[in-house]
Amino acid sequence: MTSILVLNGPNLNLLGQRQPEVYGTTTLADIEAACATYAKASGLSVTCAQSNHEGALIDAIHAAKGVHDGIILNAGAYTHSSIALMDAIASVELPVVELHLSNIHARESFRHKSYIAPVAIGQICGFGADGYLLALDALKAHLDRSTA
Ligand code: DQA
Repeated sequence: MTSILVLNGPNLNLLGQRQPEVYGTTTLADIEAACATYAKASGLSVTCAQSNHEGALIDAIHAAKGVHDGIILNAGAYTHSSIALMDAIASVELPVVELHLSNIHARESFRHKSYIAPVAIGQICGFGADGYLLALDALKAHLDRSTA
């Protein structure tokens, strides 16, 4: 069965309480439950993880190689700063969908730069919590095409 890692970065554990006018009221637990239900209906296996620490996210990306077929990554603010995360993704050669709840391109200019984008197969942003399900569809379609 196709296996996908849904990996969330810093401050996303606070979803639901954190700036709800920007990120909505859905909690990370709600998002993870929705991913599990959606994945089951789509014939996918999903594992969810979250860390506030850059190194732990890098370790999770390394550990995904040979275990998962692809990654949905919301790297939070590390998106805009972490060359180390970019290098980790490039190193494992797994397809990564970059995800953001908010439309980073419609926000402050420092959020327009993404170090994840050049090593991702694509980016989904601005659709709130629904973005995770859109990302599952996008990654599944990509994987189905590449294994066909
Ligand atoms: C975010 C956007 C980032 O700019 C921000 O630092 C986050 C969340 C999003 O999901 O919209 O922490 O990745």
